[in-house]
Amino acid sequence: MSKALAIFGGSALVYAALAVLMGVLPGIWLSQVPPIPGLKPLTAIEARGRDVYVAEGCHYCHTQQVRPLSGDEPFGRPSVAGDYAYQTPQLLGSERNGPDLSNVGVRQSSSVWQYIHLFDPRAVVPQSIMPKFPWLFRVVDKPAPGDEPVPLPPSVAPAGRVVVPTEDGKALVAYLLSLKQPKLAAAAPGAAVSSPAPVAPGGSAPVSSPAFNATQGAQLYADRCSPCHGAQGKGVPGAFPPLAGDPVVNAADPAEHVGTVLHGAHGRVIDGKTYASPMPAFADQLSDSQIADIVGHERTSWGNHAPLVTPADVAKLRAAK
Ligand code: HEC
Ligand code: HEC
Repeated sequence: MSKALAIFGGSALVYAALAVLMGVLPGIWLSQVPPIPGLKPLTAIEARGRDVYVAEGCHYCHTQQVRPLSGDEPFGRPSVAGDYAYQTPQLLGSERNGPDLSNVGVRQSSSVWQYIHLFDPRAVVPQSIMPKFPWLFRVVDKPAPGDEPVPLPPSVAPAGRVVVPTEDGKALVAYLLSLKQPKLAAAAPGAAVSSPAPVAPGGSAPVSSPAFNATQGAQLYADRCSPCHGAQGKGVPGAFPPLAGDPVVNAADPAEHVGTVLHGAHGRVIDGKTYASPMPAFADQLSDSQIADIVGHERTSWGNHAPLVTPADVAKLRAAK
């Protein structure tokens, strides 16, 4: 009897000690780590959006923890404890059926894209397996003053009516756009974005007929541009312009093409149409050679045919701002 009690009591103690050591203490420690410089507390609407995020179970499929592994590089820099100072309890997640969202406010800053994607992910990412969240929207005959109708492509828009986000929908998108990793002080500012121009074997930089890394260009385009401009450069009707046959992409002088990628754009009339969403600026996110590769991909795909650019050309246009 007393032997059984000792075994039971002993294992209960070991179990309790492990639970405190591995579950409770790290949580207490993490909640006392100060915020890293540049991290902002959530505003009221962002905090409401975080509650919607939890209620809708977004964390069943999405993590908010970037690991120091090369496979995680597209999601942002590796997470540090101070990233979570205003996000307790932390929504780390354990399943990654969709991308990590720690830095999604930087990677996908367009609220218009976020609304279309939540209403019907397949409208912007045809192969997506993410569920629709139509209850975060109202379908109305006419938008009320202050409503911002979502520019849905005709394939998913309800005929003759408009779709506007609910208060919960707006809060969720405000929360998503607030998910931005501040740069860590240790990394020199701009270190990630300046890259030396490739030097030809002879020792001098190539001058004529520049080549570009087509594989890298296609990959970067797929990651960063295709969510809006489409895998085939066709855009999303009414929401994002096509790049196939686009005059800026096919112009012999690449200045406007490269300038648009560096600094973004908003309010242009493109082929007689205007767009509600801005084109985001990528100057802080992509290096000169990455931009040269993406621009090269766009200038040689989907029937486009225009001269290539070198990383040095991009550097010059970056400096000319
Ligand atoms: C069943 C799993 C699942 C659930 C639940 C889910 N997602 Fe997703 N999500 C995905 C997948 C898969 C992708 C990648 C394909 C795509 O972009 O649609 C994705 C992509 C995204 C993206 C784009 C990220 C990027 O880097 O391009 C955002 C933002 C997003 N989801 C937000 C949400 C939010 C907010 C919720 C909750 C309202 C949610 N997701 C619920 C699976 C899911
Ligand atoms: C959030 C959606 C979104 C993403 C992501 C995006 N774009 Fe755009 N892009 C737009 C919109 C919207 C416009 C039109 C801007 C305007 O109205 O002035 C545009 C315009 C452009 C134009 C100019 C077209 C013209 O005729 O003026 C080019 C070139 C372009 N984008 C290239 C890119 C490249 C390269 C990437 C990836 C690095 C990219 N875009 C990522 C939404 C996006």
